[in-house]
Parts: sequence; structure tokens; C-alpha cells
Amino acid sequence: MTTLTINGKKFEVDVEGDTPLLWVIREQVGLTGTKYACGIAQCGACTVHIDGQAVRSCVYPVSAVQASQEITTIEGLSSEDNHPVQQAWAQLDTPQCGYCQPGMIMASAALLANTPNPTDQDINSQITNICRCGTFQRVREGIHLASEITTKSTTAKG
Ligand code: FES
Ligand code: FES
Repeated sequence: MTTLTINGKKFEVDVEGDTPLLWVIREQVGLTGTKYACGIAQCGACTVHIDGQAVRSCVYPVSAVQASQEITTIEGLSSEDNHPVQQAWAQLDTPQCGYCQPGMIMASAALLANTPNPTDQDINSQITNICRCGTFQRVREGIHLASEITTKSTTAKG
């Protein structure tokens, strides 16, 4: 049995150690917000956080996750879908078909946690997720808006 902490809850799963974390999240735990697309770490659709860092879960063996590490999926990013990235995405209508967007949002949230005011260059170099609908421009705008929303709420809390 492997113990995982996902979105603040403990799960015991009975899987081979080399099973990709994505399949455990989707099949064993039943959280299907995290998407499968390329399966070879190229597109980012499967992005989750491990201890706040973006990880491509389709190639991340479950044995590499420690029980003490916190896994966060799109379902656990915020309690009311109100993470600044989610607020910005809603304001700008960022998604088109939506399939890549859980991964885009998770990658963007991790970027902002590490770099609160990213430049376009930071975004271009760190958000390497692929969107077949071509939402890259709105993703970039969304990240800047999320950064502003975070700054405003931090200033308001003073
Ligand atoms: S499905 Fe994991 S990077 Fe594409
Ligand atoms: S919104 Fe359709 S693949 Fe990105």
C-alpha cells in the first residue's frame, strides 16, 4: 500500500511503484480534473503540484512521492474555485475547449507562487504547456491579471 496526501486528505492505494501518479489520481482516487493528453511529459495537461511545485504527473512514478508530500490537483487548488488564477481565467474567458486548462491553471499557479510578478519572458520560458486551441495569449494575460489580483488582495489585507 502506498499512502498519498491529495488535496489535504490521505489515500491508501494499492498500485505498482512505477504507476504514473496521473493514473492513481484519476483511476484510484477518482479525481478526473487532471487530464491525460500526450503521456510523455510534453504538453502539461496532467500538471499537478507536489509541495507547491508543478509536476507532469503522466511520467511521475507514484513511488517517487513521499507520504509527507502534499499533492494538489485542480480540485484542491482553492476551496471555492477562487484562486487568483481561476478568478483571472473567469474574467478573461481564457479557456476555449478547456481540455488543457486544468494543467495550464496549475502550471500558472505554481509559476506565480515562485515568481509573483512574472515578465512575459518568464511566462514564455516557464509555461511550456501546449494548447491545441491556441489560448496562449489569453493565458499570458491571465497570469498578469492573477498577479494583479494577488497584489490587490495582499494590499487590501494590509
Ligand atoms: S499528458 Fe502529461 S505532459 Fe502531456
Ligand atoms: S483550450 Fe482547448 S486545448 Fe487548450
